[in-house]
Amino acid sequence: MGRLDGKIALITGGARGQGAAEGTLFAAEGATVVLTDVLDEDGERTASAIDARYLHHDVTSEARWRAVVYEVVGWFGRVDVLINNAGIYHAAGLMAATEADYRRVIDINQVGVFLGMQAVARPMIEQRSGSIVNISSIAGLRGGGGSIAYTASKWAVRGMTKSAAVQLAPHGIRVNSIHPGLIETAMLHQLPGIDAGHMEPWLARIPMGRVAEADEVAKLALFLASDDSSYSTGSEFVIDGGMTA
Ligand SMILES: NC(=O)c1ccc[n+]([C@@H]2O[C@H](COP(=O)([O-])OP(=O)(O)OC[C@H]3O[C@@H](n4cnc5c(N)ncnc54)[C@H](O)[C@@H]3O)[C@@H](O)[C@H]2O)c1
Repeated sequence: MGRLDGKIALITGGARGQGAAEGTLFAAEGATVVLTDVLDEDGERTASAIDARYLHHDVTSEARWRAVVYEVVGWFGRVDVLINNAGIYHAAGLMAATEADYRRVIDINQVGVFLGMQAVARPMIEQRSGSIVNISSIAGLRGGGGSIAYTASKWAVRGMTKSAAVQLAPHGIRVNSIHPGLIETAMLHQLPGIDAGHMEPWLARIPMGRVAEADEVAKLALFLASDDSSYSTGSEFVIDGGMTA
């Protein structure tokens, strides 16, 4: 018996990285999975490998959010899980970031999560159940000079998670955030230093001395998506090898 048997799960940014790992694990645990992304070739390939469906979906578009949720509910009659995973990193601190850079990161990482929660809340309220998991970061728990926009967006995700959790709890819907540290995906290799192949200074800041694989985050997302986390809502779940300890 799978831990997500009978559940319909929608995962944004599911073409690769953590979203793909979550899709793979969720499908293995019995969920019907719909992956969305803007990387259509990768998205189609990932979806076909796990017998999932794929939809083109830019998370900054309210119209696309409405269409995607309409399509999922049309196919399966419900949506039980949303993993708001799509995101971008932009390495620029306060003095280097342009207004356009800042707005782009906020649009995808923050507005995208807001639109997603709003879009699935409607069917979830009707069905009186659901689990929303928002992927923040350890950048949403503390400061860091590397990327002002990314840090701002991930703090916003943490705050929105709590606000939505309070509002949606009476409807049987749980909302939690995941705060990964360094995870081995394409995004990791955009971090200052790692982009030039210098991993050691970053590893020295991680008590466990290693980065995580994407499927380690997927296991935490599985817990939050499933009924195993039935009494958790509005909470932060950190997965960082002790980096913020
Ligand atoms: N990798 C890390 O070390 C790390 C650490 C903390 C948090 N995170 C967060 O984890 C999440 C997943 O990232 P990842 O590590 O798998 O990196 P990734 O770059 O492999 O995956 C991000 C995915 O989001 C998609 N995406 C980007 N813009 C989009 C848009 N406008 N609409 C729809 N999809 C879009 C990308 O195409 C990509 O498939 C992100 O929210 C990221 O901020 C990553």
